[in-house]
Amino acid sequence: MTRILLLGGTTEASQLAKTLAETGADAVFSYAGRTAKPVSQPLPTRVGGFGGVEGLAEYLRTESITHVVDATHPFAAQMSTNAVQACEATDVKLCAFERPAWQAGEGDAWVHAGTIDEAVNALPDAPARVFLAIGKQNLAQFAVKPQHHYLLRLVDAPEASLPLPHTTVEIARGPFDVAGDTALMQRHGITHVVAKNAGGAGAAAKLTAARTLGLPVIMIGRPDVPARPIKGSVAEVMAWLSHSAA
Ligand SMILES: NC(=O)c1ccc[n+]([C@@H]2O[C@H](COP(=O)([O-])OP(=O)(O)OC[C@H]3O[C@@H](n4cnc5c(N)ncnc54)[C@H](OP(=O)(O)O)[C@@H]3O)[C@@H](O)[C@H]2O)c1
Repeated sequence: MTRILLLGGTTEASQLAKTLAETGADAVFSYAGRTAKPVSQPLPTRVGGFGGVEGLAEYLRTESITHVVDATHPFAAQMSTNAVQACEATDVKLCAFERPAWQAGEGDAWVHAGTIDEAVNALPDAPARVFLAIGKQNLAQFAVKPQHHYLLRLVDAPEASLPLPHTTVEIARGPFDVAGDTALMQRHGITHVVAKNAGGAGAAAKLTAARTLGLPVIMIGRPDVPARPIKGSVAEVMAWLSHSAA
């Protein structure tokens, strides 16, 4: 019997959950619990960390999981690394459902940064108006450049005070569109965009908007994750599930 653990937190995970539910698969959806009101899923859902590699391995055994699909965000490297190690330890099959990284095209003015700190360094010294489109994590690293005004787009209103002195917070949940992101950047007089190379369609609008407005984008590259099979679409994951079940 196939029993699937779907590690979520992305649009792609929600798309896969829908298909798994429609096909009557025995699957559990897992959220880290970072947002106050996560998107509800058509699968039984659990919320919260497992307790590292050991905790996840224990969960896989207890729940008789046979397959893990890691559809977490490409920057959720800890969870993805834990999944590789826990699946190895328990002999559970694993694949990642991962969207290809964005590539710069004609008209884009991207500055590539390997890490968050490199992105901080890539910002100018003179005061700028920065669309810091990286979610709520890693904001503190930008505190060394307090001269900038930062536009933050977050799913939930921040609970604690922000580590940056000059911010505007926009509360919104993707997917976003080009017209909306262009208007947002114009409204806030944005001069620079900082983004994580998440890939996918839902968050790409800001890149098109930046291109249209002639703005530089500081693009942060993905963190390293141990090798695992990677599937790029719901159909590919479904084929992998049925093939590896057989
Ligand atoms: N990082 C981003 O930029 C980003 C952007 C959009 C969405 N997200 C989503 O937000 C969540 C957390 O991301 P992160 O960057 O904080 O991850 P992370 O640094 O890789 O993970 C930190 C810890 O959070 C727990 N965790 C993460 N994803 C989980 C999941 N789907 N189910 C259960 N526990 C999970 C695990 O705790 P234990 O060790 O206790 O198991 C993991 O070790 C992920 O689901 C990710 O898809 C992240």
